[in-house]
Amino acid sequence: MIRKIIVLACCISAIVTISAQQQQTSKQRGAALYKKYCLTCHQADGSGVPRMNPPLTQTSYVTGDKEKLIKWVLQGSVAQHVDVDGESYSNNMPAQNYLTDQQIADILTYVRGSFENKSSAVLPTEVKTVRASLK
Ligand code: HEC
Repeated sequence: MIRKIIVLACCISAIVTISAQQQQTSKQRGAALYKKYCLTCHQADGSGVPRMNPPLTQTSYVTGDKEKLIKWVLQGSVAQHVDVDGESYSNNMPAQNYLTDQQIADILTYVRGSFENKSSAVLPTEVKTVRASLK
């Protein structure tokens, strides 16, 4: 009987630990994906490269309307070239539409919650809706 209780207690604590880890992971996964797909241009600390690649620190795109941000990441600057908060950048941003809804949500959750940004998370369903509207 006691042995069964111990086994049960272990199972419960394992489940609790696993679900606690899953709650943190969107931002953590986003950090790893950011390194792979965005860091070369926007830099590890999101500071960008002057006149070439804009920063992701407190820009109106990053902290503003999520739909506009998601759309930007899906399309890159192929469809449109923009000034970011009054500055012009010579490089082009390739469309990132090869990433899944989940990957884009994770990356944007990471970006919006890092580099001094304190904006809300992005959900995969929000990416899905914007992606569908572009077709
Ligand atoms: C090849 C370089 C390159 C890569 C890779 C890249 N970007 Fe960009 N990004 C740019 C450039 C250049 C601009 C500005 C384009 C313009 O001015 O028209 C930009 C603009 C942006 C903007 C809007 C402006 C701002 O700074 O707030 C966001 C947001 C952004 N990128 C996020 C990302 C994310 C997230 C990734 C990874 C999934 C990524 N970028 C990958 C070069 C890149």
